[in-house]
Amino acid sequence: MKNVVILGSTGTIGINTLKVIDLFPDRFRVVGLTAYNNAQLLEKQIRKYSPTHVAIGLEGIEYLKKLFDKKKVNIFNVQSQDDIKEIVTLKDVDIVVVGIRGSAALYPFLSALRSGKTVAPANKEALVVAGHILMAESKKHKAPIIPIDSEQSAIFQCLNGRVDHKLKGIYLTASGGALLNVPKSKFSQLSVKQILNHPRWKMGKKITVDSATLMNKGFEVIEACWLFDLSVDQVQVVIHPEAIIHSMVEFIDGSILAQLGITDMRLPIQYALTYPERLESKLEQIDFFKLKQLNFQKPDFKKFPSLALAIDVARKSGTLPSVLNAADEEAVDAFLSERIKFSKIYPIVEKVVAKHHSINNPRINDILEADCWARQEARKVISKNVT
Ligand SMILES: NC(=O)c1ccc[n+]([C@@H]2O[C@H](COP(=O)([O-])OP(=O)(O)OC[C@H]3O[C@@H](n4cnc5c(N)ncnc54)[C@H](OP(=O)(O)O)[C@@H]3O)[C@@H](O)[C@H]2O)c1
Repeated sequence: MKNVVILGSTGTIGINTLKVIDLFPDRFRVVGLTAYNNAQLLEKQIRKYSPTHVAIGLEGIEYLKKLFDKKKVNIFNVQSQDDIKEIVTLKDVDIVVVGIRGSAALYPFLSALRSGKTVAPANKEALVVAGHILMAESKKHKAPIIPIDSEQSAIFQCLNGRVDHKLKGIYLTASGGALLNVPKSKFSQLSVKQILNHPRWKMGKKITVDSATLMNKGFEVIEACWLFDLSVDQVQVVIHPEAIIHSMVEFIDGSILAQLGITDMRLPIQYALTYPERLESKLEQIDFFKLKQLNFQKPDFKKFPSLALAIDVARKSGTLPSVLNAADEEAVDAFLSERIKFSKIYPIVEKVVAKHHSINNPRINDILEADCWARQEARKVISKNVT
């Protein structure tokens, strides 16, 4: 029996994690769940899974405290670092799934590693902004990181969980998002609804917008460099519209291994939860005879400059990834709330990144200060671009 904490249990990743757990009731016990606003869904999850510890924002705390006996469910503040630390460091916790979106995942991720827990991150932003710190803590506390993000899971599976120095490089595949076949001249007219219509994956809104700009793939380049100890030049992004190959590794002798599967996050989630075991899944299978063909293209950096910007930031590193991420979170939020056009996301992020004076080998405080500075700068630029 593995005891599981799910951070962000009310999001797409959290809900899918619970679906996987439903398949194996004798293997997993849910001991902790967290949400941000969605108290109604968290309430349902508490009733179904009986976790001993939960966390949510202040309004949600009031709501839940009226419904549950405090001797049975400990209700914490999701915005308090100490409260989240208390949940992820509980003695009986075996694995912490990080399904929170954004850099808010950084502290919970760190706390879990520091208490030697296995961490299964779907969240990529924490690794983007502080990959060097998280990887060092993972090593220091012998706390394994088993990625859930599908591309990183694919690479992890091809390497069977080891960092392999006979690796020549990796191919990170990208379906191309909602705009692969939409001309750039149309970008300024695209609505939130059109952008959220991802052809292959059903995900939260923020990551779906990042998939349309290909910023998501840029984040994954940074994430992969940290997770698998690679230089930026060892990572090749390949557009693969069918999204059947979730990524590939190439060894120095020219052999390439790929992981294939349907586009369903329950696959990498189940792998992370059961690793090093594999259990039967009830998911649909690939029918190669229906597939007919698999296509591959070079990314169009002119059409998707966010990818080029993220790769440049990956090379320069320092506090720039934190600035890139924070400015992107602000710009995407402005687009989702219809304050700016889709085509303004990149120029806003680029402007903030260009203005930043990066600090090399940053400590947590440097990263948080850069994050704060970038949000303020982005908000200033956004207010001048409001449509
Ligand atoms: N969805 C996917 O298929 C997928 C695939 C690969 C990687 N990822 C990564 O996984 C992460 C989660 O993605 P998602 O699509 O599941 O996002 P989502 O559907 O937006 O869910 C986010 C979760 O985090 C909670 N949350 C939001 N802001 C928070 C904050 N400031 N502090 C604490 N909790 C907060 C939300 O609570 P409320 O519901 O209460 O607001 C929700 O439970 C992202 O980093 C994303 O890039 C997702």
